[in-house]
Amino acid sequence: MRDYSGHWLAKHIDRRTFLLAAGAAIASARVSSADESGETSLRQRAEKKGLVFGTQVNAGPLFSLKPYQDAVLRDAAMIVPENEMKWRPTQPTARQANYFNAERIAKFAEDNTLLLRGHTAVWHQNPPAWTKDIISGDDGEKLVLKHARELIEHFRGRVMEWDVVNEAIAPEDGMPDNLRNWAPYNKGGIDFIADCFYAARQADPKAKLYYNDYSVYYQSQGLRRDAILVFLEKLKSKGAPIDGFGIQSHLIANAEFDEAIYRRFLSEVADLGLKIRATELDVSDVRLEPDIQIRDTIVAAHTKQYLDVLFDEPAVVGLVTWGMTDRFSWLHEGWPRRDRLRQRCLPLDDNFARKPMWYAIADALDHAPSR
Ligand code: G3I
Repeated sequence: MRDYSGHWLAKHIDRRTFLLAAGAAIASARVSSADESGETSLRQRAEKKGLVFGTQVNAGPLFSLKPYQDAVLRDAAMIVPENEMKWRPTQPTARQANYFNAERIAKFAEDNTLLLRGHTAVWHQNPPAWTKDIISGDDGEKLVLKHARELIEHFRGRVMEWDVVNEAIAPEDGMPDNLRNWAPYNKGGIDFIADCFYAARQADPKAKLYYNDYSVYYQSQGLRRDAILVFLEKLKSKGAPIDGFGIQSHLIANAEFDEAIYRRFLSEVADLGLKIRATELDVSDVRLEPDIQIRDTIVAAHTKQYLDVLFDEPAVVGLVTWGMTDRFSWLHEGWPRRDRLRQRCLPLDDNFARKPMWYAIADALDHAPSR
């Protein structure tokens, strides 16, 4: 085994991260040779373990940039539209639905035998402008439910799994049941959210129904973990037809990750009888110094550490990355680095070449227990 102790990287990062990084580098070398033998894709590695690997896609590059489309088809067994199924693009005016881009993505999934995730029917952040007054008025809940029903019905039989409700928990808002301060939640509470799931089940009885949320991975996020567990328990006890919990997994390289805490959280979710999918994995490098090799190494190590814990939980059914290539990531605008360098947050670089993060995912899949 190669000796990394005098390696320049060791001087830049702490011992634990260094050891993880060294492991990822070794795995990367091993995977490269497997590559030539043809056993390459993340999709195949996941399938071997009874897991599903998928990625978010955006209709823009998907239908105009061949290397992007090729990258998706090479690695993904499942796709989820980044924005195209959200409320704002699908219903720009009260009377007019526009499923053009969502349809193109659904057809792309069908043509290429890919599983399709639906994202997302109910999300406080995405109602179109024309809904603003209605949502804060007496008919707000009715309108949100109508939208969820129509959207899911439109794609009936074609979407394998829906994020029915996204990001409803916000303990910082100080509202009952830790629900986000949003009119439909303020008025209807958890019963309203249960109604969203009932509507979704009616609209597409075969689709799996997920609640999707963020920031449950790190030590400092205990309040959100607790709030989400209590929320999921209440939803279940009300009989809401919920099948799974989508853990977004927008990670931050160098954030403090306590494996034991996260393992316990995952098993508590599983104890509720829910499946778990990591639905939006990317790893922000905002806290890291500019050097590309250091960033890539630490991002890969963090990915591997996180996924090893995730895949150990038998209720986990798969992983979706929030994009395949650094060329297109919400993080560039959503959370820019102070030095204005582009983030290196996804498995492939700007030119679609595999990065250490890709190999870290491959290695974690190879070591995942079989389902
Ligand atoms: O469509 C308009 C376009 O007409 C306009 O010219 C342009 C000008 O900025 O904006 C376009 O809308 C943008 C939209 O993405 C489509 O590109 C919005 O400004 C922008 O805010 C929006 O961001 C998306 C964000 O969700 C909000 O919907 C990101 O692409 C998308 O990656 C992000 O994804 C979310 C998940 O849905 C939920 N979890 C968190 C995740 C990251 O924020």
